[in-house]
Amino acid sequence: MKVLITGSSGLIGSSLCKHLERSGHTPVKLVRNFSLVDSKTCFYWNPSKAELDTHALKEVEGIIHLAGENIAKGRWTHRRKQALIRSRVDSTRLLVEAIESMSSPPSFMLNASAIGIYGDTGERQVVESEPAAHDFLGELGSAWENALSELDQTKTRSVAMRFGLVLSPKGGALKSMLPAFRMGGGAIFGSGRQFVSWTTLDDALRMITTLASHDGYQGPVNCMSPHAVRFETFAKTLGGVLHRPVFLKLSARMVGFIFGEMGKSTLLTSCRAHPQKLLEKGFSFQHPEIEPALRHLLNR
Ligand SMILES: NC(=O)c1ccc[n+]([C@@H]2O[C@H](COP(=O)([O-])OP(=O)(O)OC[C@H]3O[C@@H](n4cnc5c(N)ncnc54)[C@H](OP(=O)(O)O)[C@@H]3O)[C@@H](O)[C@H]2O)c1
Repeated sequence: MKVLITGSSGLIGSSLCKHLERSGHTPVKLVRNFSLVDSKTCFYWNPSKAELDTHALKEVEGIIHLAGENIAKGRWTHRRKQALIRSRVDSTRLLVEAIESMSSPPSFMLNASAIGIYGDTGERQVVESEPAAHDFLGELGSAWENALSELDQTKTRSVAMRFGLVLSPKGGALKSMLPAFRMGGGAIFGSGRQFVSWTTLDDALRMITTLASHDGYQGPVNCMSPHAVRFETFAKTLGGVLHRPVFLKLSARMVGFIFGEMGKSTLLTSCRAHPQKLLEKGFSFQHPEIEPALRHLLNR
């Protein structure tokens, strides 16, 4: 199967390309770096200029759209927020327009989305039918998924993959936390009672290939382990796996002071999302529990 991937240099995209190749598929990449283009497996696009080499879409079975400015990189200034929105919404629109102009469009388009769409849900477990929140990430998620829903569903099946925190020592949140935790300086943010919905990168890749190959999936799909944990449990389990104590606490006020709105939204917000659609259709998780998952990821 020939599949077009965006965000192929990112944490999920780079591993997904290798995973697809190992499974006998052919990933074709859309990249912004012109020097990587080879006109066979790597094509140019620049969503901020609405530029896309449509040769990339030739004979592809599906599209997996993962590109977007990194949410956790730096404070959310007005400019940064615009970049976060535009890199997701404009790029999705550009792909949808390209698909709509094709006489033989791809059979599926999987878009990244995120549980940030639910906002702070406290103690409540949330499934795919939960409405979007009215904060920044809720509105970003809605705009991102609305752009995808413009696709003619009778020709191209679309899925919004609402990822929880994707754990890997190679990148993302876990990689950023590891140096402090390895030195015994890992901290609990805020009260520590906020829920973290998480998945290992390996399970995330298996979810993506499952969503690509099963026609029954359409619309939003929660992509995380069925066992969300409180941040305190997450931090103490990580410390335990590394044989390091976790005694530091960073108050909500300090998190806000150091990281601003980005920190409050990504570190303090509680989201206990449940992968209802995946479970209903029998998806089996390789790493459903946090401790064995961290042991697997960190070879401990
Ligand atoms: N990792 C997580 O825990 C997590 C959780 C929830 C949701 N997600 C979502 O899943 C997607 C993939 O996550 P990831 O962790 O692999 O992300 P990542 O490592 O930050 O990579 C995202 C990729 O997007 C592309 N990109 C960056 N800025 C861009 C821009 N302005 N315009 C177009 N493309 C841009 C880059 O690829 P090129 O340089 O090749 O263009 C980059 O490698 C993202 O949309 C993310 O928001 C991730």
